[in-house]
Amino acid sequence: MSFGCIIDATTSSKIPSEAIAEMSLTAQNHRILLNDGNNIPIIGLGTYSAPKITAKDACYDAMKVAIDVGYRHFDGAWIYGNEGEIGKAIQEKIADGTVKREDIYYCGKLWNTFHPPEMVRPSLEKSLKLLNFDYIDLYIIELPLAFKPGDVIYPRDENGKYLYHLTDLCATWEVECHPYFTQLKLREFCDSHGIVIVGFSPLGTCRDSLWVNTKIPPLLDDALLNSVAAKYKKTSAQVALRFQLQRNTVIIPKSFNPERIKQNFEIFDFSLTNEEIKLISALNRNERYVQLLMWKDHPEYPFNDEY
Ligand code: A2P
Repeated sequence: MSFGCIIDATTSSKIPSEAIAEMSLTAQNHRILLNDGNNIPIIGLGTYSAPKITAKDACYDAMKVAIDVGYRHFDGAWIYGNEGEIGKAIQEKIADGTVKREDIYYCGKLWNTFHPPEMVRPSLEKSLKLLNFDYIDLYIIELPLAFKPGDVIYPRDENGKYLYHLTDLCATWEVECHPYFTQLKLREFCDSHGIVIVGFSPLGTCRDSLWVNTKIPPLLDDALLNSVAAKYKKTSAQVALRFQLQRNTVIIPKSFNPERIKQNFEIFDFSLTNEEIKLISALNRNERYVQLLMWKDHPEYPFNDEY
């Protein structure tokens, strides 16, 4: 999961909403241009895994596999508790000559308890120190839901009620994107303004019932995705990812499993037809997996808005 919002408001590519086969993208060269001249690799590795159930070094190991496979974009956050492992893996891959720092695109995130402006820079500096970087490529607001500022990361009162905080959210966006939640209206808006979307949970999440609406069936079991996958000798995950790639949407599938890390990157050697894109688009249910219902009483809870 990346709770993180992600619209990078700095992008280019005027692309119509559906069915754009970006055929020129390859495993070696898959950066897409942003409207400020920067660029972003269209596939990144998601790195959220519930800290309590994740083995130490699982993220570090996954990072090294991913860099060897060819991933250059990593979606992380201070709250995931593994920026140290991410930094260590990247530094080692720089030291052994596999990559240079400028080959890597790292996105970090400001946690809910650090929204007051004076806390932003120190929070970023904490991440830089853990990563052992002198810059990161993108820093976004993790969630448009501010909590009581301070060092308690999930602050609650004596009755267990979350302690919220009011904040200015005008620049904050939240985007989940996959075949069951295609975000057509948001995409049309972004396309018309030259904004590239980064869609989190492109595989339909890990289905942790704490924060996921598990009433929606698992995306990767979908019959259409599986039948298209069979046609191309791919998996439903690869079809879901390729669908987004052809819509010029950046995807950040999370996996710490070497086979699946590799599988999720093998999406540059086939192409969906426009008809298949249309059929997959029609799977849209306008329902989010990530609903964060435990915070639905927050005055800025974003998911009742249309987008
Ligand atoms: P794992 O880390 O064991 O591979 P999302 O990116 O939509 O949040 O989905 C992440 C979830 O999907 C994780 O539980 C991850 O588990 C699993 N996953 C990642 N890649 C694949 C794949 N190719 N096929 C099936 N499940 C996958």
